[in-house]
Amino acid sequence: MALQPPAQAATALIATEIRPEARGDAPAIDDVLGAAFAGVPHSDQSEARTVRALRRDGALTLSLLAVRAGACVGYVAASPVRLSGSPGRWFGLGPLAVDPRWQRQGVGQALVQAALAALRAQGAAGAVLLGDPAYYARFGFAASPDLGLPGLPAAYADHVQALAFGDQAARGALRYPTAFGLAPEASFAPGDVLG
Ligand SMILES: CC(C)(COP(=O)(O)OP(=O)(O)OC[C@H]1O[C@@H](n2cnc3c(N)ncnc32)[C@H](O)[C@@H]1OP(=O)(O)O)[C@@H](O)C(=O)NCCC(=O)NCCS
Repeated sequence: MALQPPAQAATALIATEIRPEARGDAPAIDDVLGAAFAGVPHSDQSEARTVRALRRDGALTLSLLAVRAGACVGYVAASPVRLSGSPGRWFGLGPLAVDPRWQRQGVGQALVQAALAALRAQGAAGAVLLGDPAYYARFGFAASPDLGLPGLPAAYADHVQALAFGDQAARGALRYPTAFGLAPEASFAPGDVLG
């Protein structure tokens, strides 16, 4: 009888495709966001709702799926943000999610790298995000005393991180599209997205 390879080795052989959202993908995106954030302490499980609102408002600059063996196993979005002290076009990365069954196999890394490459190719000044520095430092994201999200509790100040693509650093107060449901002083309305 032939030996079966260990499960981890078998899944490592399955290629990950990163591709833009296509018509009909929304339910699979909802599912992967729901599965990834279920039980995550810092989450209120609003991520799928946020992505639907971004899509509705025309604010989904990037909507990328990670597909393995024909199934959506991961997802990342990017949307325009405003930075009071930095010129140029900045984008917020997130939410980022990988189905728990497929985590720790490089899917999250592949999604982040694809999103950053796409934003650079679009001439973005850089990317910002709200997330765990322990994960995002590997991509070059860093917090800065010059960058803040109005209304965020001080304990989370180091979760506001930026990666500049050029020599212009991220500075000032950050605002996200209203789809994120943040405080009014940290939000801007969809009609202003391209302003
Ligand atoms: C965070 C997440 C997207 C990472 O996806 P992934 O495909 O498992 O990530 P990768 O395989 O590219 O990287 C795995 C590495 O990241 C680390 N990692 C995963 N989540 C982490 C976290 N929250 N903080 C620090 N490190 C983390 C793993 O320990 C692993 O480290 P190692 O390579 O040293 O073993 C995934 O764990 C997830 O969907 N989590 C739930 C949703 C979430 O928290 N999203 C991020 C919102 S800020």
